[in-house]
Amino acid sequence: MNARIDPEIYTAEKTESARDKTIHKFLNAISSYNCEEASKMKKVKMGVKPLIYPVPVILLGANVDGKPNYNTLGNFGSMSISPVSFFIYVSSAKRNYTNKGILQNQSFSVNIPSVELVEATDYCGIVSGWKADKSEIFESFYGKLATAPMIMECPVNLECKLAKNFDVHPCEVFVGEVVETYVGEQYITEGDRHKLPDIGKINPIILSPDNKYWKIGESFAKAYSIGKGYRKK
Ligand SMILES: Cc1cc2nc3c(=O)[nH]c(=O)nc-3n(C[C@H](O)[C@H](O)[C@H](O)COP(=O)(O)O)c2cc1C
Repeated sequence: MNARIDPEIYTAEKTESARDKTIHKFLNAISSYNCEEASKMKKVKMGVKPLIYPVPVILLGANVDGKPNYNTLGNFGSMSISPVSFFIYVSSAKRNYTNKGILQNQSFSVNIPSVELVEATDYCGIVSGWKADKSEIFESFYGKLATAPMIMECPVNLECKLAKNFDVHPCEVFVGEVVETYVGEQYITEGDRHKLPDIGKINPIILSPDNKYWKIGESFAKAYSIGKGYRKK
């Protein structure tokens, strides 16, 4: 059977049982998905566009001349999830005010806002610290480095020590060593073995290439597990 994965099948459902049913349907569709058929799909060349998404929108934080400043970024990355790496990178246009603070203090923060913070997040991305004081938009707190301001209202904060920086035109890339990670307790769920940040509760903001903000959907399969049933059809 050459069933297609119909995006209509996978819509966010309100109740637990409706969600379970939806996930079940979606898994059935995946298990009958024919890779050979997919390999015949026509590809459209889009030009040179780094369409790597979704990643959550972040607020990059640094103290500039002694005051917190936050800059919205639609991209950032970690070096590796498994094996785990304690280093992440952000890339911010060279003209950005926040960059000055990162270099002054050799530290910065990555703050992950939830969808409720979308207005303030967007504002930090359209108004520069060169023109307006953004230090009072959020409640800032400090961790062990004492120089990297973090946003209390954001569910997740990474406190980073600057490890390396270099230019990749038109941006400056900052590689940071994460020295501590903070997660609001209401965003944590008991996992199989550990307490874990719950992506559903964090509800991060996703940016699409047509400049729209999106929410994430539901979990539909278990990583490091669903692939064990794969057989080439
Ligand atoms: C949704 C969104 C995503 C953005 N992504 C980036 C980005 O990836 N890199 C970047 O340099 N600027 C990005 N910007 C623009 C900066 O946030 C903007 O230039 C900001 O004013 C810089 O703040 P600062 O000068 O106070 O550091 C983005 C803005 C928005 C609204």
